[in-house]
Amino acid sequence: MPQLVINGTKRLRGEARVQGSKNSALPILAASILCNDESVIHNCPDLSDVRASVDILRYLGCRVGCSGDTLTCDSSGLCENCIPDSLMRRMRSSIIFLGALLARTGSASMCFPGGCEIGPRPIDLHLKALELLGAEIRDDHGTFRCTAPDGLYGAKIALSFPSVGATENIMICACMAEGTTVITNAAREPEICDLADYLNACGAMISGAGDGTVVIEGVEKLHGASHMVIPDRIAAATLLSCCASTGGRITLTDVIPSHLGAVLSIFEECGCIADIRGGTVTIDAPYRLTAPKIVRTMPYPGFPTDAQAPVMGMLAKSRGTALFIENIFENRYLHVGGLLRMGANIKVEGRVAVLQGAPSLHGAQTAALDLRGAAALIAAALGAEGVTTLSGVKYLDRGYESFESTLCALGADVKRI
Ligand code: EPZ
Repeated sequence: MPQLVINGTKRLRGEARVQGSKNSALPILAASILCNDESVIHNCPDLSDVRASVDILRYLGCRVGCSGDTLTCDSSGLCENCIPDSLMRRMRSSIIFLGALLARTGSASMCFPGGCEIGPRPIDLHLKALELLGAEIRDDHGTFRCTAPDGLYGAKIALSFPSVGATENIMICACMAEGTTVITNAAREPEICDLADYLNACGAMISGAGDGTVVIEGVEKLHGASHMVIPDRIAAATLLSCCASTGGRITLTDVIPSHLGAVLSIFEECGCIADIRGGTVTIDAPYRLTAPKIVRTMPYPGFPTDAQAPVMGMLAKSRGTALFIENIFENRYLHVGGLLRMGANIKVEGRVAVLQGAPSLHGAQTAALDLRGAAALIAAALGAEGVTTLSGVKYLDRGYESFESTLCALGADVKRI
C-alpha cells in the first residue's frame, strides 16, 4: 500500500495553483446526463472520486472523453438507469445521480450509498424532496427503486437542514419538472452556484442559487454546454494550513477569495497576514501560530466543515487553546489519533474537541482514516520535527490532485513510496 514519508519543519514558500473543485465537478458530471447531448467540463481535478463518476457515466451508456483537465460527456447514448453496488460504493456522493437519472429516464435504482468514515450520511432529505417532486421510492432490500409514474412536477420544498447534496439533487431533478419548484433553507455553498451556472448554460431556468431560496422553472429539455469548474476552496484552505503549519509564506493562484472569507478570518486570528489581489491569496505565517478561541463549523458562508481537519493539524503546535465545535458531521475527529501520536494535546467529547497547542511535534507513524483527516495529518507532519509516515493515502487521492508534488514544489520534503 502506498505511503507518504514527510520530513518536517521545512518552511513552505512559493506559488501554487489551486485545483478545480471536487465538490463542484461531481454534481455537474451527474447533471450532464440531463442534456441528452455533449457537454464539455473544464478544470476538472484528476481525483479518484471524479474517475468513479466517469465510470458511472460510462456504465450508464454515456461517452466520456478526457483530455487534461477537460472532460467531454455525451449522454445521448444513455441506456441504463440502475447503478450497481460496486460503483455506488466507490464514492459516497453517487447519490447525486439519483435526481439526474429520474429526470432523464423517469426511473432510477441504486443501493443506499451507505455511511462513510465521518458519519452515517443519511439521505432522508434527498428522498423526501424527490417524493414531493412526484417520485415514488420503494426500498427493495437495501436497493431503492424510484419511479415517477405521473412524471415530475414542481413543488415547494422546505429543507430542515441546508443539505448540499439534497439541494443539488432537487435542482437537478426539478430542471425539467412540470411547473415551478421553490427550495427554502437551501444550501448556499459556492458549489451550488456553480451547478446552477452549468444547468442554466444548458437551458435551465434556476434563480436564487447562493441564497437560502432557490427557484427552478421547469423547461422542456436541456442541451449540452461547456463549463469551467470553480476553484476548490477546500484544497486552497488545505494548502494554506500546510503553509501556516511551517511558518511559511505562499501565494495561491486561481482562487476566488470571496469563497474563503470564514477561512481567512481564522488564519488572521492565528497571526497570519493574508493579502488578497484579484484571484490570488498570499499568506504569511508567523513562526508559531496563536490558537483561535473557537473554530465552529457551519453551513456556508460559515467556517466549512471540510477545513476543520487541516486547520486542526496546523494548530497542533500553536500557542494557546482552541475549542473546535463540529456542527455538520457526527464523527469528524478521526485525525485526532494521528495528531496525538505526533505529540498533540487534544481532547474530544462528541462534537467538541479542545486543542491545547504543544510546544513542538515529532514525527510518527500515522494512518489516514478519511479524506480531510489525511490533510490534517500532513499539515501537522510538515511542522513536526523528524519523519512522519502516512498510510491510507487512498483517502487523500479522493480529493487532492497530486498533492505531494504540489507540496514539494513549495519546498516540502514529501515522498510517496
Ligand atoms: C457535501 O456533502 C460535500 N460533499 C461534503 O464534502 C461537505 O462536507 C458537505 O457537503 C458540507 O455540508 C460533496 O459535495 C461531494 P450535506 P453532503 O448533505 O452533501 C445530514 C468532502 O470532504 N444529512 O450538506 O453529503 C448529514 O448527515 C466532503 O469533500 C441528513 O441528515 O453533505 C450531515 O450531518 C465530506 N440527511 C449534514 O446533513 C440527508 O438527507 C450535512 O450533509 C442529507 C444530509
